[in-house]
Amino acid sequence: MQAIRGSRQDASAMREQNAKAPRIPDFGRRIRELFHPYRGRLALTIVLVLVTAGLTVAPPLLTQEAFDQGLFPGGGPNLPRLAEIVGGMVLIWVVSQVLGVGQTYLTATIGNGVTASLRQRLFTRLQQMELGFFTRTRTGVIQSRLANDVGGVANVLSNTVSSVVGNTVTVIAAFVAMFLLSWQLALIAIVLLPILAVVQRRVGQRRARIATQTQESLSELSAITQEALSVSGILLAKAFTQQRHETERYAAESRKQLQLQVRQEMSGQGFFAMVQIFLLIVPAVVYLVSGVLLSNGVAITAGTIVAFTTVQARLTWPLMGLLRVALDLQTSSALFARIFEYLDLQPAITDRADAVPVPQGPALGRVEFDGVGFAYPGGPGQEAVDILRDVSFTVEPGASVALVGPSGAGKTTIGYLVPRLYDATSGSVRFAGVDVKDLQQESLLATIGIVSQETYLFHATIRENLRYAKPDATDEEIRAAAAGANLHDTIERFPDGYDTVVGERGYRLSGGEKQRIAIARVLLKNPPVVVLDEATSALDSMSERVVQDALDAASAGRTTIAIAHRLSTVVDADEILVLDAGRIVERGTHLELLRLGGLYAKLAAEQLAEEEAQPV
Ligand SMILES: Nc1ncnc2c1ncn2[C@@H]1O[C@H](COP(=O)(O)OP(=O)(O)OP(=O)(O)O)[C@@H](O)[C@H]1O
Ligand SMILES: [Mg+2]
Repeated sequence: MQAIRGSRQDASAMREQNAKAPRIPDFGRRIRELFHPYRGRLALTIVLVLVTAGLTVAPPLLTQEAFDQGLFPGGGPNLPRLAEIVGGMVLIWVVSQVLGVGQTYLTATIGNGVTASLRQRLFTRLQQMELGFFTRTRTGVIQSRLANDVGGVANVLSNTVSSVVGNTVTVIAAFVAMFLLSWQLALIAIVLLPILAVVQRRVGQRRARIATQTQESLSELSAITQEALSVSGILLAKAFTQQRHETERYAAESRKQLQLQVRQEMSGQGFFAMVQIFLLIVPAVVYLVSGVLLSNGVAITAGTIVAFTTVQARLTWPLMGLLRVALDLQTSSALFARIFEYLDLQPAITDRADAVPVPQGPALGRVEFDGVGFAYPGGPGQEAVDILRDVSFTVEPGASVALVGPSGAGKTTIGYLVPRLYDATSGSVRFAGVDVKDLQQESLLATIGIVSQETYLFHATIRENLRYAKPDATDEEIRAAAAGANLHDTIERFPDGYDTVVGERGYRLSGGEKQRIAIARVLLKNPPVVVLDEATSALDSMSERVVQDALDAASAGRTTIAIAHRLSTVVDADEILVLDAGRIVERGTHLELLRLGGLYAKLAAEQLAEEEAQPV
């Protein structure tokens, strides 16, 4: 445990150093590309914006007229003129609000459309990544990019597009109106704008840095949640009474998240306060300057001053809104960078341009290993260790080979190389006579059935879990597969039968039942080649018999690579390969190997002794 805690701390220290937004070349172009499919809507939005902008310039000017021509034209109010002006104002507001609804619809579809396509592309890219990527990366961290980073961008995008558009309209309209009313007074209102722009930029950069750290911390939180709150995680924590430690771990990261969030929200508040103060004192300054102008002979009416301050007051929130959006955009650039970083991941295993489907000839089902060496790709700064060395063997179509040997010898690894879940580092793996690197991986995977050492089940019914192997399978086929895997009777005994929900990862099923579901899936898929990485060693001899029968059903008439922990299960194999530290040290049939008196004979003797010691 100590070692694990240590390494977790190292990881979090590394995280701190890395909390820099990843550098993404062509950032601007890529953002534009995201909006490309929506260019029609964007153009329409801009047209609407301009129309609304044109409309919103009018009311303040009408206010001026209402005062100067309607209310106080000199010699009593001019009611007919006033009614006209007020009617005009009402009409303009109604029309501009209706256009506003249309605008909101457009911007909402654009913002959410971009988010949806990002989410979709990210998921697709992750689906294409090789198995090794997922063994190197914590699930929670991956989930966080999809949930928190895309979610964060979504917030900004959907709020931003509409508020940028709406606020820009108001701000432009207000400035135009102000200049039309009195350019002298308008100048006062804009002197500070360049300074605002500079300060805004700096605050934005600071925020983007904090945002990167916040997202890192969110992904850590997500990883902790995912690890600790899964069935296995809870079981582990309870078994080793580590709940308090887990809670503390979460609390520490949560505190950090809290601090970062507060920092992120607070950064820029001073700036906003400054802007507010400026905007609040402008009307007062306007009165003063008007007085000065008037006493210098410049003609300014009371209507102009009232209209001017009204416009200026209406400018406050949109202007603040725009500044906020500018900040949010800078913050979201950090999130975009994290999303692009994942979108740019290159799968290590891809089809070659000239890859072919698995040839359907008499060789279909032949598996050949030719001087295969393999090392798991090490992480950055880690050295790759050789796991397999010079492994050569051939399984003819329909024949069976069994892999036995001590734990960690590389048996599962050999199983991974057949469907090209990893690429051999040296030598070649051939399938149906073709190097697997020249085959289309989808076609290769479709030809191989895999029963892995651990069975993965979805939180769904048994029927749905089985049907995953063959989406169009009839209930009849499903029942037949379950029967073949020795599972049908067991399922029938469950109160809900095939509609029993298996629970998260199948925790409601026993180990042997889960394994038989995996086998039934292979029976449904009905591939010419099967790789069976069984874990019967975990079962008592009764269940082992049941699972073994199921495995026999899975291998009948198929090329079989069986990884066995119980030697009793391999006696019938056409060839047994004894693996030790990544090398094939012995090969032959059960009897030949016993006679040889080597590692196999030793393992067999050990297991026999164990079985005799077991009180049956
Ligand atoms: N994803 C991985 N990254 C790095 N090393 C790995 C990875 N998976 C397995 N190894 C290492 O490769 C070696 C062989 O593992 P493998 O799973 O093939 O053993 P095995 O023979 O199936 O053992 P067992 O009988 O316990 O299932 C082990 O030393 C293991 O630590
Ligand atoms: Mg294994």
